[in-house]
Amino acid sequence: MLGNFTYCNPTRLYFGEDALENLGAELAKYGKNVLLVYGGGSIKKSGLYGQVTAILADCGKEVCEVPGVMPNPTVDKLYEGCRTARENRVDFILAVGGGSVCDYAKAVSVSAWCEEDPWDKYFLRMEDVDNRIIPVGCVLTMAGTGSEMNGGSVITNHASRLKIGHVFGDNVFPKFSILNPKLTYTLPKYQMAAGIYDIFNHITEQYFSGTDDNTSDYLAEGLMKSLIHSSRIAVQNPQDYEARSNIMWTAAWALNTLIAQGKRTDWMVHMIGQSVGAYTDATHGMTLSAVSMAYYRALLPHGLDKFRRFAVNVWGVDPAGGPAVEVAAEGLKRMEAWMRELGLVMNLRELGVTEDMLEGIADGVFPMDGGYKALSREEIVQLLRESL
Ligand code: NZQ
Ligand code: ZN
Repeated sequence: MLGNFTYCNPTRLYFGEDALENLGAELAKYGKNVLLVYGGGSIKKSGLYGQVTAILADCGKEVCEVPGVMPNPTVDKLYEGCRTARENRVDFILAVGGGSVCDYAKAVSVSAWCEEDPWDKYFLRMEDVDNRIIPVGCVLTMAGTGSEMNGGSVITNHASRLKIGHVFGDNVFPKFSILNPKLTYTLPKYQMAAGIYDIFNHITEQYFSGTDDNTSDYLAEGLMKSLIHSSRIAVQNPQDYEARSNIMWTAAWALNTLIAQGKRTDWMVHMIGQSVGAYTDATHGMTLSAVSMAYYRALLPHGLDKFRRFAVNVWGVDPAGGPAVEVAAEGLKRMEAWMRELGLVMNLRELGVTEDMLEGIADGVFPMDGGYKALSREEIVQLLRESL
């Protein structure tokens, strides 16, 4: 049965090849001082930086910048952004880049006027925001995280070896996001595949929980089917607009809170992946793919009905093909074959994890109990060992 919920998604999306044309009108709604944040240079190479700065100039904005937002943005980088935002009395933050840049913009948005250390308050203690929030808008260049339409912000603290995500409320969601699938064409294949698996895993994290009949699960199945279909086309032809646009649209719906409504959710793969990320700084989607098969195979007996349904409805396994456990296992086999087809990293060693890190990684995993089984620390270590 659907639990009680309130649903609101305040982010306005502009989708399609001409989406950037709407940037000026959106920026006009906010004050003069704009902080432009972006990553390590891909937007300069692609020419997007020039387009965006021309629009900012046309709108008469005073622009300051924080370039060099790294994948898996760090707490030190967050402090730098807070200083720049305060010193320039920033009215608006424009993020141009992938999930890391969007996440970073949201972190600066809530932290710039925070009187305490924002890492302690918003990441370690996960408190609600009670200070001024600087509004954020995004121009997205990579499909994956869903950061363009949610309140999530993940920050890494290398000194304490923790990578923590805070899911902020709808007052922190981007005010708007510009989604032009063509802006994702320049992504290296490795990043495209990582993004695709990130999307898929966001869906499974919300799907593998509960035993009730829930519309959110039917939506999840539709999203997964579309993603599998489009991903196969995109790996063959990264410039296939139809496939890239479907992937971009799926990313937004996979993690904009919709398919979590009225149900429990798991998020264990992400918790493990984040801790792996804190140790290795590896690409987010690959930290998830590396541990997924060991995790889902271990989970299968605890959520057999849902795994069987996944096999039949998502992977087209014949429901009459054998006992439930065999049908369910065949679903996971097909999922693994698809992951290999995409060229995902399927083990932790490839990400730089070594045996001596496993205990520490397990210590950095935030416990979750919304899925079919809450894992003990020993079970997490075992799972990491199997994924090595
Ligand atoms: O920095 P640049 O030069 O822009 O290069 C980036 C980066 O190296 C490159 N890239 C992005 N768009 C490109 C491009 N290169 C060429 N052409 C383009 N169009 O791709 C690399 C990875 O970018 P990044 O933004 O780090 O990737 P992603 O979108 O996967 O974001 C990962 C971050 O998001 C967090 C992750 O933990 C990680 O820190 N997440 C955020 C979530 C949320 N807000 O809800 C949920 C997710 O589960 C995730 O945890
Ligand atoms: Zn993710």
